[in-house]
Amino acid sequence: MSPFLLTRTLPEDATEAALRADVLHGLGSTPKTLPPKWFYDAHGSDLFERITELPEYYPTRAEREILLARAGEIAAASGARTLVELGSGSSEKTRHLLDAFPDLHTYVPVDVSGSALTQAGRALGAERPGLDVHALIADFTATLTLPDTPGPRLVAFLGGTVGNLLPAERAAFLASVRALLAPGDTLLLGTDLVKDPSVLVRAYDDAAGVTAAFNKNVLSVVDRELGADFDLDAFEHVALWDAGHEWIEMRLRSRVAQTVKIPALGLVVEFAEGEELRTEISAKFREEGVRAELAEAGFELTHWWTDEEERFALSLSAAR
Ligand SMILES: C[S@@+](CC[C@H](N)C(=O)[O-])C[C@H]1O[C@@H](n2cnc3c(N)ncnc32)[C@H](O)[C@@H]1O
Repeated sequence: MSPFLLTRTLPEDATEAALRADVLHGLGSTPKTLPPKWFYDAHGSDLFERITELPEYYPTRAEREILLARAGEIAAASGARTLVELGSGSSEKTRHLLDAFPDLHTYVPVDVSGSALTQAGRALGAERPGLDVHALIADFTATLTLPDTPGPRLVAFLGGTVGNLLPAERAAFLASVRALLAPGDTLLLGTDLVKDPSVLVRAYDDAAGVTAAFNKNVLSVVDRELGADFDLDAFEHVALWDAGHEWIEMRLRSRVAQTVKIPALGLVVEFAEGEELRTEISAKFREEGVRAELAEAGFELTHWWTDEEERFALSLSAAR
């Protein structure tokens, strides 16, 4: 079994402080918002894994198809000895990538979900003797400090998670990733592509209601962590396509006029009947836009691969 190290880069109470700040700010804003990273407690991470298996949720299958076809090219082009994966979750698809890197020295999965990291890290450590697995519990939107491991480095950011960041957040995030790298290091980025809105909406509003449960889980997290009294049944899951911004929005719509108390913050929040709380955006991309955003952050896009049906893209870029 290879070494598996789990490092928390923030103290336990920093997570609670960040949740408090986000809830105070988000529920005090008009319209109300909450950032998507709070979906992912252990239950939310399990629900996300179930989403990836839904017939409507094509992104995971499409990205896996590309990884299976291109992992060898990715390994050859990057020459990486350290693979850092942001928002790694279960690291399920990453296994296809790891298979193509026989000389990889260290894998560094980074996630806010300690439960997902522990499960994935232990399994990988057992499956791949010889590979160092150094997992980091960290927020990838904050300043990251990576372990001192051999280069070149490849940073992978899969699943289309980059689309959960607003455009200005995305620019700051990509610049911060660039700052972690030396010239010639590489970035592998998964981006979901603009397509027929009905296909997109179905992917975020499945018939079995798993995405609805995932969306509402953010309220359970606030109830448990901050003693709030959100009644999950009093909110309805909404997924809609914003054609102007080319993103999917997930919202929670209050079924009735209601008052929610959040004792840990001394906060009382009023919801009008029909009022919506935005919980996630998921931006969809076009090749020119991805290339331009990467160039702005100091990367040169060198490879662009899509699945057969052109639903999803993986791009490889070199730090300039
Ligand atoms: C959409 S899932 C994708 C999971 C996996 N990469 C995949 O492709 O299936 C997003 C992942 O990013 C993590 N995540 C979300 N926001 C984060 C943040 N700000 N910092 C670190 N991890 C985050 C979640 O816990 C989750 O594992």
